Parts: sequence; structure tokens; C-alpha cells
Amino acid sequence: MADALTILGLESSCDDTAAAIVRQAAGARPEILANVVADQQALHAAFGGVVPEIAARAHVEKLDLCVERALDEAGLTLRDMDAIAVTAGPGLIGGVLAGVMCAKGMAAGAGLPLVGVNHLAGHALTPRLTDGLAFPYLVLLVSGGHCQFVVVRGAAEFTRLGGTIDDAPGEAFDKTAKLLGLPQPGGPHVERAAKAGDPARFAFPRPLLDRAGCDMSFSGLKTAMLRARDALVAKAGGLTKADRADLCAGFQAAVADVLAEKTRRALALYMAEAPGDPALAVAGGVAANAAIRAALEIVAAEAGARFSAPPLALCTDNAAMIAWAGLERFRAGHTDDMTLAARPRWPLDAASAPMLGGGKRGAKA
Ligand code: KG4
Ligand code: ZN
Repeated sequence: MADALTILGLESSCDDTAAAIVRQAAGARPEILANVVADQQALHAAFGGVVPEIAARAHVEKLDLCVERALDEAGLTLRDMDAIAVTAGPGLIGGVLAGVMCAKGMAAGAGLPLVGVNHLAGHALTPRLTDGLAFPYLVLLVSGGHCQFVVVRGAAEFTRLGGTIDDAPGEAFDKTAKLLGLPQPGGPHVERAAKAGDPARFAFPRPLLDRAGCDMSFSGLKTAMLRARDALVAKAGGLTKADRADLCAGFQAAVADVLAEKTRRALALYMAEAPGDPALAVAGGVAANAAIRAALEIVAAEAGARFSAPPLALCTDNAAMIAWAGLERFRAGHTDDMTLAARPRWPLDAASAPMLGGGKRGAKA
């Protein structure tokens, strides 16, 4: 392995502006020297979702401050970097452009190589940063904008085994929260409410379990939640705290069941390749959900695969994953020039058929 590499990473594809520095010395485990995230929740709160134009402007304002803070935290300067990595897609195009332009400016100014990184590759490669997983491993990417099973074979070599044909689970969590009057982003609030609930009181569907393969569907769950809520409101004039808890518990159990069963099938396909050190990893915001993590951990154990779930801060959007994916690409000899383009869509596995749907925020899928 070559000498130590130190990479600055930038992320601005959705509503988090982030800068991070990752270093890997020859033969050693990688280290996160700084990991700065400025979220924009307050800016979008009044609109009930991410407003792309507001997000892009906030990224432009915050990117250089995040870089300054990351360099300060690490006690380094731009001159100590070996390259600058930046999310070049997929994502909200204004935000991705802001990051790419910022990275190009810094790379040109400091005379550093530039590495464009796929945001999903950042999520997919995070288990190598945190747990040193060996290729090939299976990863379930599950967040507000994406949901897919990917076999990670190399820093730029991915095979998609299946994914959602409509919404992403995070979107369904967020919609559920909205319907029940809980704050956004909804996932953590639904999870908290579900703790006190009875998952058996409401019968939520388990979509596509009757169909072979590992494709998934979550839009029907949102509709089921709307109907169940409306029925309660029509009958009793409103929702009690117990109603809310039971609805959340029933919904979460349905998502966990679907993800567990589809993961079982994806694992079987992956294990059939007889990987040397089999592992299942989970990444993305929904991977923060303890019930879902626990269900997946059992599935991995049953299949004889190691289970890896990054710490919560590295599950949700961050720039350490971009710096790390950039480091892996850079070590493999890959750099980009000033023609690097921002891409709203950028499938990880260009060889597989395109997904039917990638979620409402599906620019990311
Ligand atoms: O990966 P992420 O930060 O951003 C992208 O969507 O790319 O994921 C955010 C999503 C949101 O939909 C949020 O509600 C969901 O992840 N989420 C959760 C939990 N924490 C965050 N969903 C379920 N349970 C959670 N604890
Ligand atoms: Zn993400």
C-alpha cells in the first residue's frame, strides 16, 4: 500500500452541508480526523420537506465554513491534503453543483487532485471505513431517498440485486410522522412512539413478500397508514397517545418484516457466490432504527454472515464517507479533471436495469 493519504471530503447533495478529513497510513486502519455536519432542518421546517432552492443557497453559504472548521479540528491546512473528494451526484442538483464548484475552486487554488464521488458509493463503502470489511460484501442502503441491495465488489464495482420500486422507507417513516402530527424528519419520532405501542393492533400489509426476488415497495404502507388514521378519526374524532403508539408500532413492524425477508433473499444470492469473509452491512438514515437493525442482525446471523452497522453519525449523510470513498478511488489511481459534472442521477450499478421508481426524493436513488 502506498504512503499515508489524507483526503478532504465535501457533501452537499441533500440538506446536510458537510466537510470531513480522513487519513489512512500505509497498512493501517483509516482515521476520521474531522467530521463537520451543518444540517438545514431549521431552514426547511416551515415547508414540511426539503426545498431544493433553499438547500442550494445554504450549501453555498456554509461549505467554506465547514471546510475551515474541519481543517481547524484536524489541525491541518489544505497543503496537508493529498486530494479533494466531493459528492458529484446523485442528489438535488443545486446542492451537488455547489459542492462540485467549491471543490474545483479549492483544487485549482491549492493545486490538488480532484476526485468525484457517488453519494451512494459513500454510504456503501462506509463499512470499510468503520469495520474494515473485505470485498465482496452485501450492503442494504436504506434512507429517505434510496433503498437497494448492492454487492460491493470494489471501490467502483457494484452489483444491484434489487431495490424499491416506488418509495424509500425513510419517506414512509416521514409521511407516517406527518399523518400522526409528529415532527420531521419523522423516523426517530415514529421509532420513539412505537416503543410504547402494540404492533398487532393494526394489520399493515407486507408488500411484495409474495413475489420472488428482492425488490420492495413501500408506497402501499403509506396509504394503509392514511386509511387507519382516517378510520380512527372518523370513529373517535381524533387520535389518543395509545392510538399513535400502536399505529407507529404496527407500521415499523411491517417495514422491519419486509426488509428482513428481502434481506434474507439478497443474502442467499450473495452467499451463493461463496464470499471468503461473508458480511451484511446496513447504511443510510433508516439504519439508525434499532428495531430494523436488530431484525437484520438476526437475518445475518442465521445466514452465517458478519453484521456491520456503522455508528449513527456515519449512517446519515456526512462527508467522512465521501472522503473515505474518495481515498479508496484515489488509491486505485482515479482522479477527475475540471470537466467533472454534477449529476442529479447516477446509478451505482449502470449495468442493471434502471429502477422503476426511486422514491419521491428519488433523484438520490
Ligand atoms: O441517509 P439520510 O440522512 O438522508 C437521505 O435520505 O439520504 O436519511 C434520512 C432518512 C429520513 O427519512 C429519516 O426519517 C430516516 O432516514 N430516519 C429514520 C430514523 N432516523 C432517521 N427512520 C427510521 N428510524 C429512525 N430511527
Ligand atoms: Zn444519503
